[in-house]
Amino acid sequence: MKYNALKGIHDILPPDIYIWQKVEKTAKDIFSTYGFHEIKPPIMESTEIFIRSIGETTDIVEKEMYTFRDKAGRYITLRPEGTAPVVRSYVENHLYNLPSPQKFFYYGPMFRYERPQAGRFRQFYQIGAEAFGVLDPKIDSEILAMLKFFFEKLEIENLRFEVNSIGCEHCRPAYKKALLNFFSDKINSFCPDCKRRFELNPLRILDCKVNACIQLRNGSPKIIEFLCKNCREHFEKFISFIELLNIPYLINPNMVRGLDYYTRTTFEITCDQLGAQSAIAAGGRYDRLVEEFGGPPTPAIGFAAGMERITSLIKSSCNYNIPHLKVFIAVIGSHAEKKGLIMASSLRKHGIWAEIGYEGQSLKGQLRKANRLSAEYVLIIGDEEINSGKVKWKRLSDGKQGELSFDEINNFFISP
Ligand code: HAM
Repeated sequence: MKYNALKGIHDILPPDIYIWQKVEKTAKDIFSTYGFHEIKPPIMESTEIFIRSIGETTDIVEKEMYTFRDKAGRYITLRPEGTAPVVRSYVENHLYNLPSPQKFFYYGPMFRYERPQAGRFRQFYQIGAEAFGVLDPKIDSEILAMLKFFFEKLEIENLRFEVNSIGCEHCRPAYKKALLNFFSDKINSFCPDCKRRFELNPLRILDCKVNACIQLRNGSPKIIEFLCKNCREHFEKFISFIELLNIPYLINPNMVRGLDYYTRTTFEITCDQLGAQSAIAAGGRYDRLVEEFGGPPTPAIGFAAGMERITSLIKSSCNYNIPHLKVFIAVIGSHAEKKGLIMASSLRKHGIWAEIGYEGQSLKGQLRKANRLSAEYVLIIGDEEINSGKVKWKRLSDGKQGELSFDEINNFFISP
């Protein structure tokens, strides 16, 4: 019987894993200079928290969640995103009692039952960050600056920073009315989902991926034209701050995010090289969500970046640290085998990657293996070496050779 991974779900293998580790480390290093601390929310949550936050009429909730009932009959969902779990944790652990702002980042797998294609998976990894307690648009600009620096550090180029404001509960009623007016005489030509959304949440029609619906919504009113005074001021200040920080941006009034919790600032960072799934990171404000989860009124903003999309962009160009085998210890005879085992263990305690020959292979076979493993050095131990207390070494890159006494070995391989 041959088993395969599930559709849209992949293994991450060496050497790719070293790119992933580099991305993760770069994120941790940079995010910590902005005061973000790592948290690890669980991978499963009760289904309700995603329905409440992401929104009942979104694609994620309607079509994409991996939901099941546990043995006690409770509805459980594998997290499709990280914001709702972080907000749940923030409220449950009363983190709002700590000095504001509280800033967190997370890294881990998310699950969405989407149609798999290049850059779109059913299990995918996000690096995300959420900042709680600041209404000032300076923090919106800092989040974008942090992302810009992060991608620069990874040498990812040709990114577009698309920004928009989707207003607040005060701007929405007039906008909703304008949308209903615009769509009312053509709603019968839309897909069944959009027809339903017309009744329940017309804003979601703007996020439909069906081609006919995309055509039909051409020329629809833009939320940015309906912003209330406070939202407009917030947006203008945000734009002035990102200009100050030299972040090249594009206002995209058509950008409506696929999740309902957003208010005011939204953004997507896109890259044409990614093809159809061009968003490498996305996020925005969600100033009402903490309150909706039972916490005190707390403005908040965050983003998530897709690891598969990031790593696909740096695969060929980035300098990442694949570990190299330093020493292969070839052993001949049972005494040498024991000596080699002890020697390898001692080298490893000094942080040196060492391997030994196994299963009585011939010297020739062991040397071939050392070559295949791209070892930097080979040590050869046989009875003669054990008797003389000296071991032969050879550097495979240039064939240089020499001898060492057993107690010189660790120091010889510890890099200066
Ligand atoms: P999102 O736009 O749904 O936002 O996802 C953020 C990023 O995750 C996308 O830009 C993309 O890079 C990656 N991504 C999403 N779906 C997939 C997939 N199926 N396969 C591969 N990569 C994918 C959120 O998830 C929000 N929680 C972001 C946020 C945080 N907003 C505020 N705080």
